[in-house]
Amino acid sequence: MASGTPASGQASGQGTPLGWAGDEGSTRNAVHRMFSAIAPRYDFLNHFLSLGRDIAWRRVAARALRETLARPGSRVADLCCGTGDLSFCLVRHSQGVVMGADFCHPMLARARNKANACAGNIHFLEADALHLPFGDASIDAVGCAFGFRNLAHYGQGIDEIRRVLRPGGRIAILEFSRVRGRVFGPVFRFYFHRILPRLGKWISGVDGPYQYLPDSVARFPDQDELAQKLRDAGFQDVSYVNFTGGVAALHVGEKK
Ligand SMILES: C[S@@+](CC[C@H](N)C(=O)[O-])C[C@H]1O[C@@H](n2cnc3c(N)ncnc32)[C@H](O)[C@@H]1O
Repeated sequence: MASGTPASGQASGQGTPLGWAGDEGSTRNAVHRMFSAIAPRYDFLNHFLSLGRDIAWRRVAARALRETLARPGSRVADLCCGTGDLSFCLVRHSQGVVMGADFCHPMLARARNKANACAGNIHFLEADALHLPFGDASIDAVGCAFGFRNLAHYGQGIDEIRRVLRPGGRIAILEFSRVRGRVFGPVFRFYFHRILPRLGKWISGVDGPYQYLPDSVARFPDQDELAQKLRDAGFQDVSYVNFTGGVAALHVGEKK
Protein backbone atom coordinates (compact mmCIF):
# COMPACT_ATOMS: atom_id res chain seq x y z
CA MET A 1 0.00 0.00 0.00
CA ALA A 2 1.25 3.44 -0.80
CA SER A 3 -0.12 4.88 2.39
CA GLY A 4 -2.56 4.43 5.21
CA THR A 5 -4.26 1.28 6.42
CA PRO A 6 -6.37 -0.73 4.01
CA ALA A 7 -10.03 -0.07 4.51
CA SER A 8 -10.70 -3.61 5.68
CA GLY A 9 -14.29 -2.82 6.63
CA GLN A 10 -15.18 -1.74 3.12
CA ALA A 11 -17.29 -4.15 1.15
CA SER A 12 -16.41 -4.67 -2.48
CA GLY A 13 -17.81 -1.89 -4.58
CA GLN A 14 -17.92 0.94 -2.03
CA GLY A 15 -14.56 2.47 -2.85
CA THR A 16 -10.85 1.95 -3.29
CA PRO A 17 -9.07 0.00 -0.52
CA LEU A 18 -6.52 2.82 -0.08
CA GLY A 19 -6.71 5.02 3.01
CA TRP A 20 -8.85 4.67 6.14
CA ALA A 21 -12.27 3.04 5.78
CA GLY A 22 -14.97 5.53 4.92
CA ASP A 23 -12.67 8.56 5.26
CA GLU A 24 -12.66 10.43 1.95
CA GLY A 25 -9.82 12.74 3.04
CA SER A 26 -7.36 9.97 3.91
CA THR A 27 -8.18 8.06 0.71
CA ARG A 28 -7.70 11.23 -1.30
CA ASN A 29 -4.28 11.83 0.28
CA ALA A 30 -3.16 8.23 -0.20
CA VAL A 31 -4.25 8.12 -3.86
CA HIS A 32 -2.73 11.54 -4.50
CA ARG A 33 0.59 10.50 -2.94
CA MET A 34 0.71 7.28 -4.90
CA PHE A 35 0.15 8.88 -8.32
CA SER A 36 2.54 11.73 -7.51
CA ALA A 37 5.25 9.11 -6.85
CA ILE A 38 4.76 7.19 -10.10
CA ALA A 39 3.90 10.14 -12.39
CA PRO A 40 7.38 10.29 -14.04
CA ARG A 41 7.17 6.63 -15.19
CA TYR A 42 3.39 6.33 -15.49
CA ASP A 43 3.03 6.44 -19.28
CA PHE A 44 5.91 4.10 -19.96
CA LEU A 45 4.73 1.55 -17.39
CA ASN A 46 1.13 1.69 -18.63
CA HIS A 47 2.10 0.78 -22.16
CA PHE A 48 4.82 -1.68 -21.12
CA LEU A 49 2.76 -3.65 -18.58
CA SER A 50 -0.31 -3.86 -20.85
CA LEU A 51 1.83 -4.66 -23.91
CA GLY A 52 0.38 -1.53 -25.51
CA ARG A 53 -3.23 -2.74 -25.30
CA ASP A 54 -4.26 0.29 -23.17
CA ILE A 55 -3.74 2.54 -26.19
CA ALA A 56 -6.31 0.63 -28.27
CA TRP A 57 -8.76 0.40 -25.35
CA ARG A 58 -8.77 4.20 -24.88
CA ARG A 59 -9.36 4.70 -28.61
CA VAL A 60 -12.45 2.47 -28.43
CA ALA A 61 -13.67 4.38 -25.36
CA ALA A 62 -13.34 7.68 -27.23
CA ARG A 63 -15.15 6.27 -30.27
CA ALA A 64 -18.05 5.30 -28.00
CA LEU A 65 -18.60 9.04 -27.40
CA ARG A 66 -17.94 10.20 -30.96
CA GLU A 67 -21.55 11.19 -31.81
CA THR A 68 -21.59 13.55 -28.85
CA LEU A 69 -18.07 14.79 -29.54
CA ALA A 70 -18.96 15.54 -33.17
CA ARG A 71 -21.63 18.08 -32.17
CA PRO A 72 -20.35 21.65 -32.53
CA GLY A 73 -19.84 23.18 -29.08
CA SER A 74 -19.99 19.86 -27.24
CA ARG A 75 -18.52 19.85 -23.71
CA VAL A 76 -16.92 16.55 -22.79
CA ALA A 77 -15.07 15.81 -19.54
CA ASP A 78 -12.35 13.20 -18.99
CA LEU A 79 -12.35 12.47 -15.26
CA CYS A 80 -9.21 11.26 -13.46
CA CYS A 81 -7.45 12.16 -16.71
CA GLY A 82 -3.94 11.61 -15.34
CA THR A 83 -1.40 12.33 -18.05
CA GLY A 84 -4.23 12.95 -20.51
CA ASP A 85 -4.18 9.95 -22.85
CA LEU A 86 -7.97 9.54 -23.01
CA SER A 87 -8.43 13.32 -23.39
CA PHE A 88 -6.15 13.26 -26.45
CA CYS A 89 -8.21 10.42 -27.98
CA LEU A 90 -11.43 12.34 -27.28
CA VAL A 91 -10.23 15.60 -28.77
CA ARG A 92 -9.53 13.91 -32.11
CA HIS A 93 -13.31 13.47 -32.55
CA SER A 94 -14.31 16.76 -30.94
CA GLN A 95 -16.07 19.74 -32.48
CA GLY A 96 -16.25 21.37 -29.07
CA VAL A 97 -14.13 21.34 -25.96
CA VAL A 98 -12.54 18.48 -23.99
CA MET A 99 -11.78 19.09 -20.32
CA GLY A 100 -9.39 16.73 -18.54
CA ALA A 101 -9.75 16.81 -14.75
CA ASP A 102 -7.47 15.25 -12.15
CA PHE A 103 -6.50 16.14 -8.58
CA CYS A 104 -2.85 15.07 -8.89
CA HIS A 105 -0.68 17.96 -10.00
CA PRO A 106 2.36 15.93 -11.21
CA MET A 107 0.10 13.83 -13.47
CA LEU A 108 -1.66 16.96 -14.81
CA ALA A 109 1.67 18.70 -15.44
CA ARG A 110 2.55 15.88 -17.84
CA ALA A 111 -0.83 16.15 -19.55
CA ARG A 112 -0.30 19.90 -20.04
CA ASN A 113 3.16 19.31 -21.51
CA LYS A 114 1.75 16.78 -23.97
CA ALA A 115 -1.07 19.21 -24.87
CA ASN A 116 1.48 21.64 -26.32
CA ALA A 117 1.78 19.27 -29.29
CA CYS A 118 -2.00 18.88 -29.65
CA ALA A 119 -4.08 21.04 -31.97
CA GLY A 120 -7.55 20.50 -30.46
CA ASN A 121 -9.55 22.53 -27.97
CA ILE A 122 -8.40 20.83 -24.78
CA HIS A 123 -8.03 22.10 -21.22
CA PHE A 124 -6.68 20.44 -18.11
CA LEU A 125 -7.92 21.42 -14.67
CA GLU A 126 -7.09 20.36 -11.15
CA ALA A 127 -10.30 18.94 -9.74
CA ASP A 128 -11.64 16.14 -7.56
CA ALA A 129 -13.95 13.75 -9.40
CA LEU A 130 -16.15 13.57 -6.31
CA HIS A 131 -16.64 17.37 -6.23
CA LEU A 132 -16.51 18.57 -9.82
CA PRO A 133 -16.35 22.29 -10.61
CA PHE A 134 -19.06 21.93 -13.27
CA GLY A 135 -22.66 23.09 -13.02
CA ASP A 136 -25.64 20.74 -12.96
CA ALA A 137 -26.47 19.31 -16.41
CA SER A 138 -23.64 21.29 -18.02
CA ILE A 139 -21.66 18.45 -19.64
CA ASP A 140 -22.59 16.42 -22.75
CA ALA A 141 -20.47 13.34 -22.06
CA VAL A 142 -18.09 12.01 -19.44
CA GLY A 143 -15.23 9.59 -20.04
CA CYS A 144 -13.03 8.00 -17.39
CA ALA A 145 -10.15 5.59 -18.02
CA PHE A 146 -8.59 3.56 -15.19
CA GLY A 147 -9.49 6.29 -12.69
CA PHE A 148 -12.90 5.35 -11.37
CA ARG A 149 -11.52 2.38 -9.38
CA ASN A 150 -9.44 4.82 -7.30
CA LEU A 151 -12.38 6.82 -5.96
CA ALA A 152 -13.16 6.78 -2.25
CA HIS A 153 -16.86 6.05 -2.95
CA TYR A 154 -18.03 4.57 -6.26
CA GLY A 155 -21.66 5.48 -5.62
CA GLN A 156 -20.72 9.10 -4.93
CA GLY A 157 -18.61 9.11 -8.11
CA ILE A 158 -21.55 7.93 -10.23
CA ASP A 159 -23.89 10.46 -8.57
CA GLU A 160 -21.46 13.30 -9.28
CA ILE A 161 -21.18 12.25 -12.95
CA ARG A 162 -24.97 12.11 -13.21
CA ARG A 163 -25.26 15.56 -11.63
CA VAL A 164 -22.99 17.25 -14.19
CA LEU A 165 -24.38 15.39 -17.24
CA ARG A 166 -27.30 16.83 -19.14
CA PRO A 167 -30.29 14.49 -19.68
CA GLY A 168 -29.32 12.20 -22.56
CA GLY A 169 -25.63 12.79 -21.78
CA ARG A 170 -23.32 9.81 -22.29
CA ILE A 171 -20.94 8.07 -19.95
CA ALA A 172 -17.99 5.81 -20.87
CA ILE A 173 -16.04 4.14 -18.07
CA LEU A 174 -12.96 2.12 -19.02
CA GLU A 175 -11.62 0.11 -16.13
CA PHE A 176 -9.79 -3.10 -15.30
CA SER A 177 -12.24 -5.92 -14.74
CA ARG A 178 -12.55 -9.71 -14.31
CA VAL A 179 -10.97 -12.31 -16.56
CA ARG A 180 -12.97 -15.53 -16.48
CA GLY A 181 -11.54 -17.78 -19.22
CA ARG A 182 -10.64 -21.24 -17.93
CA VAL A 183 -7.17 -21.15 -19.46
CA PHE A 184 -6.45 -17.43 -19.88
CA GLY A 185 -7.96 -16.57 -16.45
CA PRO A 186 -5.37 -18.38 -14.28
CA VAL A 187 -2.49 -17.37 -16.56
CA PHE A 188 -3.52 -13.71 -16.44
CA ARG A 189 -4.07 -13.76 -12.67
CA PHE A 190 -0.60 -15.22 -12.15
CA TYR A 191 0.87 -12.39 -14.26
CA PHE A 192 -1.32 -9.71 -12.64
CA HIS A 193 -0.78 -10.73 -9.02
CA ARG A 194 2.77 -12.16 -9.07
CA ILE A 195 4.72 -10.71 -12.00
CA LEU A 196 3.26 -7.24 -12.58
CA PRO A 197 3.79 -5.90 -9.01
CA ARG A 198 7.49 -6.91 -9.18
CA LEU A 199 8.01 -5.47 -12.66
CA GLY A 200 6.21 -2.26 -11.67
CA LYS A 201 8.29 -1.85 -8.52
CA TRP A 202 11.51 -2.59 -10.39
CA ILE A 203 10.85 -0.07 -13.18
CA SER A 204 9.14 2.70 -11.21
CA GLY A 205 11.44 2.36 -8.20
CA VAL A 206 8.37 2.78 -5.99
CA ASP A 207 7.08 0.05 -3.69
CA GLY A 208 3.30 -0.30 -3.39
CA PRO A 209 1.41 1.13 -6.37
CA TYR A 210 1.80 -1.93 -8.56
CA GLN A 211 0.66 -4.19 -5.73
CA TYR A 212 -2.26 -1.82 -5.19
CA LEU A 213 -3.30 -2.35 -8.83
CA PRO A 214 -4.31 -6.05 -8.56
CA ASP A 215 -5.59 -5.52 -5.01
CA SER A 216 -7.90 -2.69 -6.06
CA VAL A 217 -9.11 -4.52 -9.16
CA ALA A 218 -9.99 -7.56 -7.02
CA ARG A 219 -12.24 -5.32 -4.87
CA PHE A 220 -13.75 -3.38 -7.75
CA PRO A 221 -17.27 -4.36 -8.93
CA ASP A 222 -17.15 -6.86 -11.79
CA GLN A 223 -18.66 -6.15 -15.22
CA ASP A 224 -22.27 -6.99 -14.30
CA GLU A 225 -22.14 -5.31 -10.88
CA LEU A 226 -20.84 -2.05 -12.33
CA ALA A 227 -23.49 -2.14 -15.07
CA GLN A 228 -26.18 -2.63 -12.40
CA LYS A 229 -24.79 0.24 -10.30
CA LEU A 230 -25.09 2.53 -13.31
CA ARG A 231 -28.68 1.42 -13.98
CA ASP A 232 -29.60 1.85 -10.31
CA ALA A 233 -28.15 5.38 -10.41
CA GLY A 234 -30.42 6.43 -13.28
CA PHE A 235 -28.53 5.52 -16.44
CA GLN A 236 -30.27 3.74 -19.30
CA ASP A 237 -29.07 1.67 -22.28
CA VAL A 238 -26.18 0.51 -20.11
CA SER A 239 -23.93 -2.08 -21.72
CA TYR A 240 -20.31 -3.15 -21.63
CA VAL A 241 -17.70 -4.75 -23.84
CA ASN A 242 -14.78 -6.79 -22.58
CA PHE A 243 -11.27 -6.22 -23.86
CA THR A 244 -8.65 -8.97 -23.94
CA GLY A 245 -10.91 -11.51 -22.27
CA GLY A 246 -12.08 -9.11 -19.55
CA VAL A 247 -8.70 -7.66 -18.51
CA ALA A 248 -10.49 -4.36 -19.06
CA ALA A 249 -14.11 -3.48 -19.78
CA LEU A 250 -15.79 -0.43 -21.24
CA HIS A 251 -19.17 0.48 -19.74
CA VAL A 252 -21.39 2.91 -21.59
CA GLY A 253 -24.77 4.39 -20.79
CA GLU A 254 -26.97 7.45 -21.05
CA LYS A 255 -28.43 9.68 -18.33
CA LYS A 256 -32.22 9.36 -18.32
C1 LIG B 1 -4.53 5.04 -13.18
S1 LIG B 1 -4.52 6.77 -13.41
C2 LIG B 1 -5.44 6.93 -14.94
C3 LIG B 1 -4.99 8.12 -15.74
C4 LIG B 1 -5.59 8.23 -17.13
N1 LIG B 1 -7.03 8.41 -17.08
C5 LIG B 1 -5.23 7.09 -18.02
O1 LIG B 1 -6.08 6.61 -18.76
O2 LIG B 1 -4.06 6.69 -18.03
C6 LIG B 1 -5.70 7.30 -12.21
C7 LIG B 1 -5.77 8.80 -12.06
O3 LIG B 1 -6.93 9.09 -11.29
C8 LIG B 1 -6.65 10.22 -10.51
N2 LIG B 1 -7.63 10.28 -9.43
C9 LIG B 1 -7.90 9.32 -8.51
N3 LIG B 1 -8.88 9.72 -7.69
C10 LIG B 1 -9.26 10.96 -8.13
C11 LIG B 1 -10.24 11.89 -7.70
N4 LIG B 1 -11.04 11.63 -6.65
N5 LIG B 1 -10.36 13.04 -8.36
C12 LIG B 1 -9.55 13.34 -9.41
N6 LIG B 1 -8.59 12.50 -9.86
C13 LIG B 1 -8.45 11.32 -9.23
C14 LIG B 1 -5.22 10.02 -10.07
O4 LIG B 1 -4.62 11.22 -9.66
C15 LIG B 1 -4.60 9.44 -11.35
O5 LIG B 1 -4.05 10.46 -12.15
